[in-house]
Amino acid sequence: MSDGDLDIDGLAAEGSRAIASASSTAGLAELETEFLGKRSALTRAHRALGGLEPEARKEAGRRLNEARDRLVSELESRRAELAASERADALRADRLDLTEVIPAAVRSAPGRGHLHLVSQARAELEDVFVGMGFVVAEGPEAETDWYNFEALNIPPAHPARGMWDTMYLDLGEPETVLLRTHTSPVQIHLMEQAVAEGTLPIHAVIPGKCFRLDTPDARHLPVFNQIEGLVVDRGITFGDLAGTIQLFTEAYFGPGMQSRLRPAYFPFTEPSAEFEITCTLCLGEGCRTCSHTGWIELGGCGMVDPAVFDAVGIDPAEWSGFAFGFGIDRLAQMRHAVPDMRSFLENDIRFLSQF
Ligand code: PHE
Repeated sequence: MSDGDLDIDGLAAEGSRAIASASSTAGLAELETEFLGKRSALTRAHRALGGLEPEARKEAGRRLNEARDRLVSELESRRAELAASERADALRADRLDLTEVIPAAVRSAPGRGHLHLVSQARAELEDVFVGMGFVVAEGPEAETDWYNFEALNIPPAHPARGMWDTMYLDLGEPETVLLRTHTSPVQIHLMEQAVAEGTLPIHAVIPGKCFRLDTPDARHLPVFNQIEGLVVDRGITFGDLAGTIQLFTEAYFGPGMQSRLRPAYFPFTEPSAEFEITCTLCLGEGCRTCSHTGWIELGGCGMVDPAVFDAVGIDPAEWSGFAFGFGIDRLAQMRHAVPDMRSFLENDIRFLSQF
C-alpha cells in the first residue's frame, strides 16, 4: 500500500468538517465510530501499515497518528460545546414559571397575614394581667435541673417528675440541662433576682413555650405555651388567688363562664388546686375533646410552698404568695371551641384564617 492509496489529509478534513457541523452529542458519537472506530478508514489504514517499507511505514504511521490525534481533540471540544448547549436547553425546557401557575388574583393582591391564634391569645392574656397590675417577664426555654425541678421542691427521683418528662440536652455541662416542662422555673429566676436586688414584692406573669414527652391528641401538644403567674407579697391568701383567677376568667372568656378550683397536688404549692372550666364544645354534656367529663383543665395553681421560699432565700414568715400556670393553647382552644388542638400546628390556611 502506498500513500496514494489512502488520502489521509482528505480523510482528516472530511472528519473535521463532519465534527464541526454535528448538531448533537448523539450525532457526535456516531461520527466517532465512523471516523475513529474499529472499522473506520483510519483504523484500517493503520492495520495495513505492516505491508509498507520501513521508511514509508514510519512516515505514514506518523501522519495517521497526527490525523487521529487531531480528530480526537476536535471531537472532545465539540462534545463539550454540544453538551453545554444541550444542558442549557434542558434547563430552559424544565423551567417552571410560577406566574403562569398562580392565579392572577393571588399575584396581584398578596394578602396580608395576621398573628397566629395562639400568639393573639398570649398578647390578650398579657393585656388582661397587665390591667390587673402584673408585669410581664420571660425566662429561658432550656433550663437546668435545679430550676425546672429541684428549686421547685421536686428532688431527684421524686415520682412527680414523671408528670414532667422531657428532652434532656447533652451540652457537655456538668449540670443536667433540659427543655423546660413548665414556666414555673421562671418563678425561681424572678425570686432569686428580687432577693439579690432587694426588689420584693413580685407581681408577674410569664408567658412562654414548654416541652413535654406528650403524645399529641385533642388537648395535648408536645410543644405548647403556658402563662405563669407569681405573686409574692405580705399577707397574700388563697382568697387573693381565687379572686385573681375569677377576674381573669371573666376578662378572657366573658362573664358567666363556669369555672372551678379542685384540690390537687403540686410539689411547689401548698395547698394546690386545678383550675377547670366547662367544656365550651359540649357545654358540659361530655364530648371527645373533654374526654367525656364536661370539664377542661386549664392549669394548676396554689400558694407558694415554704420549701420554695427556702430554696431562694425568702423568709416564709414575712412573705407569702401564690402561683398559677395555665396552658395558653388550651385557653385559646376553649375560647374558640376548637375541637382538636393539633389544628394549631397543621398550618392549614382554611383553619388559621378564621381567627
Ligand atoms: N407548673 C404546673 C404545671 O405545668 C402548673 C402550676 C403552676 C401549678 C404554678 C401550680 C403553680 O403543671
